[in-house]
Amino acid sequence: MNTPLYKALSQLIQENTIRMHMPGHKGKPCFKPFDDIFPYDFTETPQTGNLYEQQGVIRDAELLAAKLYKAHDCHFLTGGSTQGIHAAFGTICSDKGAVLLDRSCHKSVAAACALFDLNPYFVYPDILEPYGFGGKLSIEKTEMQLKTHPEIKAMLIVSPNYYGILQDIPALSKLCHNYNVKLIVDAAHGAHFPAINIKSPIELGADAAVLSAHKTLPAMGQGAYLIMSESVDSKMLRQIESMVCTSSPSYPIMLSLDLARDWLENTNDYKLCAERVKEIRNFINTQTAFTALEPSKDIDLDSCRLTICTAKAGVSGHEICERLDNEFKIVCEMADDRNVVCILTAMDSESDFKRLKTAILDCAKGMKTVKTPDIVTDLPEPKQCISVRKAWFSKNKTISVKDAAGKICARPVTPYPPGIPVVFPGEEITPKHVEFLTKRCYNTVSEVLICTES
Ligand SMILES: Cc1ncc(COP(=O)(O)O)c(C=O)c1O
Repeated sequence: MNTPLYKALSQLIQENTIRMHMPGHKGKPCFKPFDDIFPYDFTETPQTGNLYEQQGVIRDAELLAAKLYKAHDCHFLTGGSTQGIHAAFGTICSDKGAVLLDRSCHKSVAAACALFDLNPYFVYPDILEPYGFGGKLSIEKTEMQLKTHPEIKAMLIVSPNYYGILQDIPALSKLCHNYNVKLIVDAAHGAHFPAINIKSPIELGADAAVLSAHKTLPAMGQGAYLIMSESVDSKMLRQIESMVCTSSPSYPIMLSLDLARDWLENTNDYKLCAERVKEIRNFINTQTAFTALEPSKDIDLDSCRLTICTAKAGVSGHEICERLDNEFKIVCEMADDRNVVCILTAMDSESDFKRLKTAILDCAKGMKTVKTPDIVTDLPEPKQCISVRKAWFSKNKTISVKDAAGKICARPVTPYPPGIPVVFPGEEITPKHVEFLTKRCYNTVSEVLICTES
């Protein structure tokens, strides 16, 4: 094993030093569930390294991760991809910059706009039927925005998205760089890609990318990597990371990032997982009325992600998700009105897959293709009235969507599907938005937070 942080902490535990420093458990087994974890929960000392000072064994472990993801540098994050997204925007755009966003971005991006007073412009992904969620971003539409708004400093795209869809990073990065814009990739769901031969966002031309190791690798909750190319100021990134996170980064989380990277380099089990996912997708598409999302000429996909569309069988994803949980004790990652999403990794065994297959077959029993659901029409045009920052920090209240026309939205309103914010903070909620949310989104969003001062 090549795990510098794990090696150093294990050695310290063996040396049996008295810890006259925090954490207060002193590495001793105080509570049963933490018996094996407390000894590894250290604080910064000369032997344990220092995350924000870029020192010691933590730094050694980060450089190994940078090498795996073929990046210029890598920073460990103990505040999830959220922390990395905030740091990337804070570094690249500083205060009051303009940014171009994949409209299907995570809510942490809206929070970054509020924190750093960024002015967002958007590109909407094309909606994929019958799934109802966003697919690829159009290069032409992206270029149009870059041309129209030369003040844009950074673009953020989500690749892969929750449903496993990959964007054309080489084309988008080339385009961004032509306009002197940095490309940030939210690859929160793609930390396992090296094991299934998908190139890292940095290798494909991005300037910075976040990878939530805790989502698809066996790392602790909140553990993530921020990888970057030479084009980004690594020191400034680190400063902002420390600004938006605790000054006592968790050693168990960092240790798990070290161990997960080493494990990823040596496992073949993601390839096995991808084969099993391929088989189960084929099974769903040939043996049931459900539709499993598969790669095609227009769709590049994470080969480990299973997205099952239930819409053509006339049943909602929520309903099937509930049945999988209640009747088969299978808890899926998420469901929306048309789909169920399972995160599958190298940790899922053959028998887990078999159980899932049996359960899906049972849920689909007797179901026929009844109708193709209504097409999700284009989202209503946004109308930005005040800055995201002003909207985020203004006084606010929750009201029914039906009463929201004419009000200014305080937080992203994101029904699933399409998983794309219908209204973003600072935008006016128009009668068209109300109609879209009530008629098209099957009332999955019934209340919104609006600004009460502007
Ligand atoms: C696409 C996407 N980006 C970013 C995040 C935030 O990741 P984290 O939980 O690691 O902060 C999430 C979380 O679900 C996500 O789905």
